[in-house]
Amino acid sequence: MTLPAHEHAAQDPGLVPPPGCPAHAATGPGGAARLYGPAAETDPMGLYEELRAVHGPVAPVLLDGDVRAWLVLGYNENRDVATRATQFSRDPRVWHGWSTGEIDPATSPLMPMIGWRPDCVCADGEEHQRLRSAVTASLDQFDHRGIRRRINRFAHELIDTFCEAGEAELVDRFTEHLPMLTLIHLLGMSDEEAPKLVEAARDLFKATATSLASNAFVVGSLEHLVQEKRVKPGMDIASALLSHPAGLTDEEVVHHLRLILLAGYETTANLMSNVLRMVVTDPRFRGSLAGGQMTLPEAVEQVLWDEPPLMVCPSRYANGDTTLGGQRIMAGDMLLLGLAAGNMDRAVRPDPAAPVHHNRAHLSFSAGSHECPGQDVGRIIADTGIDILLTRLPDIVLSVPEEQLSWRSSTWARHLTALPVSFAPRAPRGRQSEAPLPAAPAPHAAGVPAPAAAPEAAPAVAARPAGRPEAWPSWWGRLLRLLRLR
Ligand code: HEM
Repeated sequence: MTLPAHEHAAQDPGLVPPPGCPAHAATGPGGAARLYGPAAETDPMGLYEELRAVHGPVAPVLLDGDVRAWLVLGYNENRDVATRATQFSRDPRVWHGWSTGEIDPATSPLMPMIGWRPDCVCADGEEHQRLRSAVTASLDQFDHRGIRRRINRFAHELIDTFCEAGEAELVDRFTEHLPMLTLIHLLGMSDEEAPKLVEAARDLFKATATSLASNAFVVGSLEHLVQEKRVKPGMDIASALLSHPAGLTDEEVVHHLRLILLAGYETTANLMSNVLRMVVTDPRFRGSLAGGQMTLPEAVEQVLWDEPPLMVCPSRYANGDTTLGGQRIMAGDMLLLGLAAGNMDRAVRPDPAAPVHHNRAHLSFSAGSHECPGQDVGRIIADTGIDILLTRLPDIVLSVPEEQLSWRSSTWARHLTALPVSFAPRAPRGRQSEAPLPAAPAPHAAGVPAPAAAPEAAPAVAARPAGRPEAWPSWWGRLLRLLRLR
């Protein structure tokens, strides 16, 4: 990879970043800015703008371990890279860094993002189409109204666990739970396994001491799910992947189930947290929503423009030498889609403060053949969940000063760590209006850890309405009891 000479900045004093600016503070070998570490994590948008000012629409950057890459900042350049599949590969094996020893695959924290896996993300051309056709068919089988009904129920019951308290931390109690519950349900997970899997899959993302064990548990559960669905298919993603004419192997199915969880969970949770944060911190945003000048789907779209859940999308690899945004890109170079930077490009948004209602042309779901196939599901979860929360608790207010909100940041995304709110306490809504649920699942199979048992002293969940099948609340009830005990 050729990194453009940093004498650019040295030669033209007008382009030298002011002392203390993020780009300046965090430069590494070759004068490229580090896209990791405190400077990049504190103010990523500021860093992108500094880079744009110095380098134009494509900037040389360094990833963890000072691995070199190009960050694409321009809107048109991002679309160009995402849509020119023959010029820019999605297959990490094209990257020259593997052979130059630029990375140690055994230890690099970049591996989960840039390592090769047998899934549609890492494939090009016909192989990509084969794998992706199964993924899109598995998602398209669902009727949106059916998904909404299910989310409706999950959302109401989550809110029931905290509405009497008059206060709640919404990231933990709502925005992280709802997408995970919905995705696990859509994958086809049995009711018995769901509560443990929800906890393990959320833990997997937090890079805690138990994340590796949680990952092993998630993969084990998905392998078990695939075995189960081979014998007894249902109306779910796992069964659709198994039966698709693309002929995925069991291993490929497990990889794609995991991919759907990974790709769909954190992004949707981030989106929901960001919308709700805007509601409780920006009176204009809330006023437009409450006054009907902006619908909730428009509010979600506005946040997708302003704060993409995935700010930087890994990665594309140049199949040959080319020029992009004035930079010379060499065969095998790594490029990162700067989705957040592209959304703020003045070429498409001369006034970033102006509302972007009715405009879905943002880059937050990327573009081209790899464009997010789950975007409708993500939007439905966010729209439905937030709508129900704001309908039930229209008086929510932030219960700490805004400056105390904190984020967990990486090169790729920023996650609000907590959103504490208060509101007038209300009685739980109960389950009166739910649609009937499917029959009880098959008994728990051997080989997969049993779900966590509810503590003896747990309070009872809402009364079972007459006619409800005896077994249905098993896992959901346990999860609700655990939540209430927090
Ligand atoms: C607001 C929520 C979401 C956002 C912002 C989002 C964003 C993205 C982005 C930026 C990509 C990368 C595309 C590329 O490499 O060019 C992607 C890929 C993907 N997403 Fe989403 N996503 C969201 C929700 C979901 C959901 C709910 C699902 C599944 C139900 C999902 C499934 C996938 C899959 C399978 C891919 C890989 C597609 C491929 O490589 O062909 N996503 N998503």
